[in-house]
Amino acid sequence: MNNFTIIGGRASDDLAKKIASRLKSKYLRAELRIFPDGESKITVLGKPKNGKIVVVHSTYPPVDSNLIQALSLVSKAKKYSSQVYAVIPYLGYARQDKEFLPGEVITMSLVANMFKAAGATKVVVVDIHSKMALNHFKIPAINVSGIPALVKYFKKLKLKDPLVVSPDLGGIARARQFAKSFGTKFIALRKQRDRKTGKVEIKSSNQKKVHGRDIILVDDMISTGGSIVKAAEFLKKQKCRNIYAACTHALLIEDAEKRIRKAGVSKIVSTNTIPGKTAIVDVSPLIAKAIV
Ligand code: R5P
Repeated sequence: MNNFTIIGGRASDDLAKKIASRLKSKYLRAELRIFPDGESKITVLGKPKNGKIVVVHSTYPPVDSNLIQALSLVSKAKKYSSQVYAVIPYLGYARQDKEFLPGEVITMSLVANMFKAAGATKVVVVDIHSKMALNHFKIPAINVSGIPALVKYFKKLKLKDPLVVSPDLGGIARARQFAKSFGTKFIALRKQRDRKTGKVEIKSSNQKKVHGRDIILVDDMISTGGSIVKAAEFLKKQKCRNIYAACTHALLIEDAEKRIRKAGVSKIVSTNTIPGKTAIVDVSPLIAKAIV
């Protein structure tokens, strides 16, 4: 046993337990009650050890409730320790990292300040949407890549002439990293999203390269599924073989999963930064390594 105490909030209970067991650390559960008016009441069950405290709590939907719960746990941890790590495997608001249209609030900056104000001395996230989002933190902030864990999973599948595809140019670095460690080539499609309606279009021209090949569509997150659906429809038209979707964070809002399957994706594989049916890849070893 080391001098770490891991506190797992409701949103990341399982992952927190896995991290604690990897680190051979004390684990404390946090009990959650939601009042009829929507307020969260959180109780940390037990006393932490003297030493560092690690709060593990993703902020997936309901984003604002999970955010306040994560912040509450950090502030409670601060009462016990001067060193509090906020491990937020999926960090909501990371896409609101700049003013895309005039008047937009850069909420990522506010969220980053809130973690510092609550008492976090370090923040650890997994595959944050962009470097820019990470730069909003005024405390040390580490991004852990979930790609090695995803690649390990995909290496076990028997794929035919696999090609890694990013649904957009913004994901080139991610696709390159995946392809390099998988040992194959990658391409990136040109996606355009209407900033007002959110509607997605693929602007790429024909891609002979995908013909007859198994495709791994790699993205940081799947939210409405719009990006993956459009990319899959495009790739199917180019006569690819099977399409697999690999992402770190599967939000899968509303009927996203159904629409993705309808677009021709045979399997969605995500990590346990967000629990769910597709979360079959465990990132606890990578997080544990990053926090010691
Ligand atoms: C966008 O730049 C991101 O990397 C994802 O492609 C996007 O956020 C996924 O959202 P959706 O599933 O709603 O298209």
